Amino acid sequence: MPDTTVSTTTSSPPPAGAHRPASLAEDALTPEKLALKRRFPTALELRKRARRRLPNFAFEYIDGGAGADTGIDRNWAALDAVEMVPRYGKVISPPPTDIELFGQPYSAPVGIAPIGGPGTGFPGAETYLARAAQAARIPYSLGVVSAITIEQAVELAPDVTWLQLYRFARNEHKIGLDLVRRAEAAGVKALMLTCDTPMRTTRPRETKSGIMNPFRLTNRLRLDALSSPPWLFSMLRNGIPRFVNLRTYMDGNPSLEEAAKFMRREGGGAFTWEEIARYRDHWKGPLVLKGVLHPADAERAVALGLDGIVVSNHGGRQIDALPASIDALPAIAGTVSGKATVILDSGVRSGIDVARAVALGADAAFAGKAFLWSLGALGGRGPAHMIDLFKDEIAASLGQLGCHTVAELRSVKVRHPGAYQPDDFTGD
Ligand SMILES: Cc1cc2nc3c(=O)[nH]c(=O)nc-3n(C[C@H](O)[C@H](O)[C@H](O)COP(=O)(O)O)c2cc1C
Repeated sequence: MPDTTVSTTTSSPPPAGAHRPASLAEDALTPEKLALKRRFPTALELRKRARRRLPNFAFEYIDGGAGADTGIDRNWAALDAVEMVPRYGKVISPPPTDIELFGQPYSAPVGIAPIGGPGTGFPGAETYLARAAQAARIPYSLGVVSAITIEQAVELAPDVTWLQLYRFARNEHKIGLDLVRRAEAAGVKALMLTCDTPMRTTRPRETKSGIMNPFRLTNRLRLDALSSPPWLFSMLRNGIPRFVNLRTYMDGNPSLEEAAKFMRREGGGAFTWEEIARYRDHWKGPLVLKGVLHPADAERAVALGLDGIVVSNHGGRQIDALPASIDALPAIAGTVSGKATVILDSGVRSGIDVARAVALGADAAFAGKAFLWSLGALGGRGPAHMIDLFKDEIAASLGQLGCHTVAELRSVKVRHPGAYQPDDFTGD
């Protein structure tokens, strides 16, 4: 396989006084932060603790993939296989990590991917994630199936809230288009349409743990919850996770079972191209298609006027035969870069993974499971710690590779053995 060299963006060292990564600044390293960094220096350490502390069903919900988890393993292995060649003698202090996405400033090229029902993993998840993202100024994507409303999310994270939508097609998209209206009124920064869930699929670990489809709160789940004081305590503090964001479209105060029934009746399937065009007409802000793995789909989205693409295999949760998203990234970025913002997710566990994604053509990389592990391991303190780890590692990767800015990552020499080549897609 040939090496992949990404286009060169030249830039000079940052001006004096440019923003330094907060957590690398000595005064920002409080004793508590230092202790967390020592005990949990990586996302995988957080994962280990989350597994011990959460009820079994909660951990299996956030951590399990489709099939035998091979899609998850492939994402991780593909990212690990990407090598970047450093250039020395250039950088002497941690470089700034700031970027812009859709004209908005963010402190690093990393964001929180949309998670549906994250409160199953850890009650109150949305609030903790939104607060941490706002404090650190990184994108927070609210999943439409959430226990806080769009309006509450924007109140918690006014500068960084994005909204993800699934398809609610009944009655001429009455609910879907009302969600768009609410997003605009609230000041959501970007709207993401998820296109990679055309079918309901099963995740064996989740099923085995007792989470059923259709959902039922069984005694087994209740007993399991009792085994985890941190999860229970968070539920007492934040309430039973419910689909509050969609409550206005349901009657009364529906139970989890009733809400699941509502979702089956009103939602389902993935957006068609005609529907995507319709949402483009209704939503004037940045519109992003999430779940793209084929350059022709990315091109089609751009032709319809979309502003961004998330190259993603849904974190290996849909079917486990999909390409690792990092392996599809260069061909997609090569097709649409300059015309659309490109974001990568699926498998991102570290700032080095984020650097790999940017070096291969992404403008930013988002993570899902890493943030959920952080909640499972550390409760409400987790997301801020995970963001600190990401930001420190991004700054360290930039400096180590000889980059003064995030943009300079594009000139790093990369070897990417698993990359799909543009030719792999011809003839479709
Ligand atoms: C528990 C869980 C729930 C998810 N729910 C949604 C969702 O409601 N909508 C969506 O577009 N993606 C959803 N995703 C996928 C994430 O947005 C993202 O694509 C994925 O987590 C990235 O892979 P990673 O977990 O390896 O970082 C979910 C992921 C997880 C782990």
